[in-house]
Amino acid sequence: MGGTSLEGSLRVGVVGVGLMGADHARRLATRIAGATLTAIADPDGDRARALADELGGVTVHDDPLALIASGEVDAVLLASPGSVHEEQLLACIEQGKKVLCEKPLTMDSESSLRVIEAERAGGRPLVQVGFMRRFDPEYMRLHELIESGRMGRTLLLHQTHRNKSVPNPDFRSEMIVRDSLVHEVDCARWLLAEEIVSIQVIGPAPTSHALAGVVDPQVTIFRMASGAVVTNEVFVNSRTGYEVRCEAVGEDGSAIIGRPWGEVYTTVADPAGGDGAWGGPIVPDYRVRFERAYDIEVQAWVDATRRGERTGPTSWDGYASTVVCTAGMESLATGQPVDVVLAPIPALP
Ligand SMILES: NC(=O)c1ccc[n+]([C@@H]2O[C@H](COP(=O)([O-])OP(=O)(O)OC[C@H]3O[C@@H](n4cnc5c(N)ncnc54)[C@H](O)[C@@H]3O)[C@@H](O)[C@H]2O)c1
Repeated sequence: MGGTSLEGSLRVGVVGVGLMGADHARRLATRIAGATLTAIADPDGDRARALADELGGVTVHDDPLALIASGEVDAVLLASPGSVHEEQLLACIEQGKKVLCEKPLTMDSESSLRVIEAERAGGRPLVQVGFMRRFDPEYMRLHELIESGRMGRTLLLHQTHRNKSVPNPDFRSEMIVRDSLVHEVDCARWLLAEEIVSIQVIGPAPTSHALAGVVDPQVTIFRMASGAVVTNEVFVNSRTGYEVRCEAVGEDGSAIIGRPWGEVYTTVADPAGGDGAWGGPIVPDYRVRFERAYDIEVQAWVDATRRGERTGPTSWDGYASTVVCTAGMESLATGQPVDVVLAPIPALP
C-alpha cells in the first residue's frame, strides 16, 4: 500500500481497544465505507475477545506487532497509550503500512523526530495523526472563514476546553498540557496556518474539586509567528460537562463556534419563587461532541489510503504539537514563557 490505489476494501487492524480503540473498531465495522475491520490487538486479551465476539469476523492478536506485520492488515489504526506509539509507528513504517495514530504522536520531541525521520527514510507519507477537530463541521467552517479573509487578518483566538471531571487517581497537572491542551495546540497551528513561537502556562488558585497539587484550570498563552496571540482555558474538573469553544477575532470581524448545541433551550422555574433559569443540554464527553468528526476523519483516512494518498494532520503536525506541549510543561513548572524551537526539517509532501 501507499502510492498506489486499492481496488477492494481496505483491511484495517486496530491496535489498542480501550475507550477510543473500541469506538474506532465499531466505527470501521459498521459505518465506514470501503474498509473492513480484519484484526484487533490489545494486551488485555479478554477485552479484545469480547469486542471481537461483538463485531464478528475479526482476528485477535495479543501482540500488537504481530497485527502490524499481519498479511491480513493493509493499514493500521493506533489507539494504544501514547507511551507505546513510537515503537508501533516505527513498525508500521517498516512494514510500509499507512497508519492513523491517535494523538499524541509520541510522548516527547525526540521520539516524534525519530518517527518523522523513519517516515522520510522510507520516502512515502504514511502517518496521519488523530487530531479529529480538523474534521469537525464547525471547525471546518471556521477554518474556511479565516482562510477566506472575510474577517481580515486574525489577531486573536480564544479557546475553551472543559471536561466534567477526571476520575484517574494518578492525574497530574502535566496531563492537562500533554493530553488536553494538545488539541488547542493543533487547532491554533491549523486555523492560523503558522507555528507557535512561545507558550506560557499559568493557573489561578485551583478548583477545590481537583486532586491536591493539580493546577486546574490552566490558562495558556501562545504567541504565533505572525504576532497573533492565542488564549486557552483548559479546565478538566468543571463539574458541568464537555465544552469546546473557539472564537477567532480578526481586524474586520469575529466568529465563534462550539456554543451549546441541541435543539431545545429550556426555561426552568425556581420552585422557591425566585427568577427562572434557562439552559440546554451539555454533552458528557468528547465521544459525543466529536462523534461526527471521528466518522469524517476515519472515512477521509480510508478514502485517501485507498487512493494511495494521505490527508489530514501529518507526522510533522504531531511533532510540532509535541514540541509545543513539552515547552508548555516546562512553563507550567515556572509560570514563565518558554520559546518553542522546531527542528529545521521540511515536511514530507
Ligand atoms: N482524539 C481524541 O479525542 C482522543 C480522546 C481520548 C483518547 N485519545 C487517545 O487515544 C489513545 C487511547 O486512549 P484511550 O482513552 O482509549 O485509553 P484507554 O486506557 O481507554 O485504552 C487503552 C487501551 O490500550 C491497551 N494497551 C495497553 N498497552 C498496549 C500496547 N502496548 N499495545 C496495544 N494496546 C495497549 C490497553 O489495554 C487499553 O485497552 C491515547 O493515545 C489517547 O491520547 C484521543
